[in-house]
Amino acid sequence: MAHSIGIIGTGKVGTAVGVRLAEQGFPVVGAMDILPEEATRFVESVPGCMVYCTAQALADAMDLIFITTPDDVIGEVAAAVKWRPGKTVIHCSGANSTAVLAPARDRGCYVGCLHPYNSFASIQQSLENLPGSTFTIEAEEPVLSELKTFVDSLDGKWMQLREHDKALYHAAGCIACNYFYTLVHLAADLWNQFDICQDDAVESCMPILKGTLNNIEHIGFPMCLTGPIAGGDLSTIRKHLEVLANRQPRLVLLYKTLGLETIPIGLAKGTLSPDKAQELRALLSD
Ligand SMILES: NC(=O)c1ccc[n+]([C@@H]2O[C@H](COP(=O)([O-])OP(=O)(O)OC[C@H]3O[C@@H](n4cnc5c(N)ncnc54)[C@H](OP(=O)(O)O)[C@@H]3O)[C@@H](O)[C@H]2O)c1
Repeated sequence: MAHSIGIIGTGKVGTAVGVRLAEQGFPVVGAMDILPEEATRFVESVPGCMVYCTAQALADAMDLIFITTPDDVIGEVAAAVKWRPGKTVIHCSGANSTAVLAPARDRGCYVGCLHPYNSFASIQQSLENLPGSTFTIEAEEPVLSELKTFVDSLDGKWMQLREHDKALYHAAGCIACNYFYTLVHLAADLWNQFDICQDDAVESCMPILKGTLNNIEHIGFPMCLTGPIAGGDLSTIRKHLEVLANRQPRLVLLYKTLGLETIPIGLAKGTLSPDKAQELRALLSD
C-alpha cells in the first residue's frame, strides 16, 4: 500500500478522488496543477496535503501518483517526468488504456487505470457523485488490489476491462450519459415551440426523467418501457412524425432511428405484437 499519494491535475476528477480518498484515511499528501490556485484550493480541503510546483517534484516525493489532467495531456505528463522505478502511476481516463503511461512503465513503474463511470460537471458535483460510482480498473497485481481497495472505500463497484474493449466501453458511456443530456436538451427545445423557455421546460421534465430512471432501476428492461411503441400505437407515432416533419424536420431521422431501436424492447416486453412491430418498422424505415 502506498505511503504517499499525489494528484497531478486537481480538476473535477482529481479533486473528487483525492478528497474522498483522504477522507477514508488514505495518505493524500501532494497536489500539483498547471494552475497553482487550483492546487491551493485542493490542499485547503485535504489536511496535511502540500502543493508541489512541478509534476517532477511531486512524482519524486510520492509513492502513488494520479495523473488526472485532461486526456490529451496524460501522455505528455507521463513522458515529461523522469520516473524513479517502483512508483505507481494511475490515470482516470475511460478512453485511454494504460498504454499512454508507457514512459512510466518503461522506467520500472507500476501503471494502472481507474475510471469512474460517472459524470463530473463541477468540482462540487464531482465530490457528491463519486462515492458509489462504478469504477473500471485496468491493472495487474499489485496495483489491481490497491485500486480495488480504493473503490471499496468509496462504496463503489469495480469491474475489470480488457484493453481492446475500452473504446467500446467509453462509447457506451457517451451514449448513456452525454447523449442523454442531448436528448433532454432536444425535448426541452420542443417545449420552446409552445413558448416555454428552456429552464422551465427542463424543470418540468424532471419528474418524468427521474421516474424513467426509477423505472429502469427498479423494474428493469424490458418491462420498464412505456409509451406508444410499447403499446403498438401506430396512430400516435404517425402524429408525431407528421408534427415533427412540419415543425422540427431535423428531428425526424433521429425520432425514427430511436423508434426502430425501441421496437425490440417492446417485443421483449410482450406488449408489442410481432404484427404491429412489422407495421411500425415499415413506418419508421420509410
Ligand atoms: N469529467 C468527467 O465527467 C470525467 C468522468 C470520468 C473520467 N474523467 C477523466 O478524468 C480525467 C480528468 O478529467 P476532469 O474532468 O477532472 O478534467 P478537468 O476538470 O479539466 O481537470 C484537469 C486539471 O488538470 C489541469 N492540467 C492541465 N494540464 C496540466 C498539466 N500539464 N499539469 C498539471 N495539471 C494540468 C487542468 O488545468 P486547466 O484547466 O488549466 O487545463 C485542470 O485543472 C480525464 O482523464 C478524464 O477523461 C472525467
